[in-house]
Amino acid sequence: MAQYDLAIIGSGPGGYVCAIRAAQLGLKVAVVEKMPTFGGTCLNIGCIPSKALLHTSELFDAAGHEFEGFGIKVGKPKLELKTMLGHKDQVVESNVSGVAFLFKKNKIDSFRGRGAIAGPGKVLVTKDDGSTETVEAKAIVIATGSDSTPLRGVETDEKRVVTSTGALSLPEVPKRMIVVGAGVIGLELGSVWRRLGAEVTVVEFLDRILPGLDGEVARQAQRILARQGLTFRLSSKVSSVDSSGKVLKVSVEPAQDSSSAEILEADVVLVAIGRRPYTDGLGLKEAGVELDERGRVTIDAHFATTAPGIYAIGDVIAGPMLAHKAEDEGVALAELLAGQAGHVNYGVIPSVVYTTPEIASVGRTEEELKADGVEYRAGKFPFTANARARAMGAKDGFVKVLADAKTDRVLGVHIVGPVAGEMINEAAVLMEFSGSAEDLARTCHAHPTLSEAVKEAALAAWFKPIHL
Ligand code: FAD
Ligand code: NAI
Repeated sequence: MAQYDLAIIGSGPGGYVCAIRAAQLGLKVAVVEKMPTFGGTCLNIGCIPSKALLHTSELFDAAGHEFEGFGIKVGKPKLELKTMLGHKDQVVESNVSGVAFLFKKNKIDSFRGRGAIAGPGKVLVTKDDGSTETVEAKAIVIATGSDSTPLRGVETDEKRVVTSTGALSLPEVPKRMIVVGAGVIGLELGSVWRRLGAEVTVVEFLDRILPGLDGEVARQAQRILARQGLTFRLSSKVSSVDSSGKVLKVSVEPAQDSSSAEILEADVVLVAIGRRPYTDGLGLKEAGVELDERGRVTIDAHFATTAPGIYAIGDVIAGPMLAHKAEDEGVALAELLAGQAGHVNYGVIPSVVYTTPEIASVGRTEEELKADGVEYRAGKFPFTANARARAMGAKDGFVKVLADAKTDRVLGVHIVGPVAGEMINEAAVLMEFSGSAEDLARTCHAHPTLSEAVKEAALAAWFKPIHL
């Protein structure tokens, strides 16, 4: 029977990064994964394939609608969806095989099969053919991630009524697509299929899109996405989908009133109403691992569950369901298990929605600061006043820097704008070092760059912008 310092169940960004760091720190590590390839949701059916499609569909859209304005005549672009999907699959393949390479390089053993906790320090691995194997380890990490939350009364078949997984591989562009949920998945994958030619209607339960993000940012994003052609039905819900005919009949009702349903027709319905922790078949109850009221594994400040020797990280515990959050938890836990001082700063976890323009934020929103009675100054700078954005023809959006009114410490940065997902990281570094708006404003930024808008927003929060 194999003996390890650490056995990790799940090879997503939480599990595989934890495995690599633990091996680098001298621990003997095993990873148990039930999927045929490593990398979890993120690499196989999440972050990576969605970003591949977002990139290529954006190029298609630009070729059809923007090139001409720049004096580039290419005629009407023709979509070869099979090639576009093939590119996405090839990107996935290179990423998942990269994880396999890193496991080998770091002498990490992998076990293919479904893992379950079978007593203290024991993980039972059941392979596809039904045979079993036991892995023994001093510590066990649950890194089993999450899956899509089902919509009550609506069955998904991953063909016409799909989750994000089916929406990443539609064999043809639907004429009409209904997206349930105006969250991150709904807006990203809704954008992909809109750009490729679908009429996309997004049905959202709340009276706003992107709950949790800064309200002003979400309103601006909604205006821009609506202008691009996404139709929003806010304060509404989908109560049923009739898939008996050739066309789907989708019943849409006001969120708080079921008496006036309207039937919308669609070729594809994407259900994107959130994700839930995945703990099926792990034997957690028997092992003494407690879950919270939302089914997430309960942990202490050091990722330890209620059962000795068992830890948990990533989407399966509380906090934002983001790959980089899972990765940082993986590193912190590996360091703790190796006797070091691992730590995650939950106050500085950036988040990015990869629409066009991108929507990125880090730290606290204006709504949160108001609710907590924190006095703050807000500095804003629009991309219309940024030279590089004008040159790129990408003037939509703004940067907002929120700084403590007394200390000038930056408390939050929110961006709607071109490559906002890259720019947000300088705000994260600043906040990690408890920097002030003045620090950011006095840092020399290269010209002409989009990041100058971040500097100008900091100038606006601290004193006055130059270019406004
Ligand atoms: P996962 O990546 O879910 O990995 C868990 C792994 O555990 C899986 O491989 C699963 O097969 C395995 N497993 C589960 N149970 C068992 C078992 N019993 N035995 C063996 N193996 C098991 N986040 C971002 O930060 N940026 C993005 O751009 C982004 N885009 C996304 C797009 C989509 C469409 C989706 C669905 C998600 C996206 N996310 C994104 C979220 C991101 O994918 C997750 O936050 C991240 O994958 C969580 O990592 P994890 O390691 O906790 O779990
Ligand atoms: P989400 O939580 O982002 O959004 C779900 C939306 O659905 C919310 O706006 C919610 O109000 C709405 N909703 C819930 N029930 C509804 C109902 N019955 N009818 C209509 N609307 C309803 O969840 P989503 O988009 O499914 O994504 C799941 C998670 O995956 C995200 O929370 C995020 O953590 C992660 N993700 C991250 C990405 C990124 O970082 N770029 C990309 C994609 C996913």
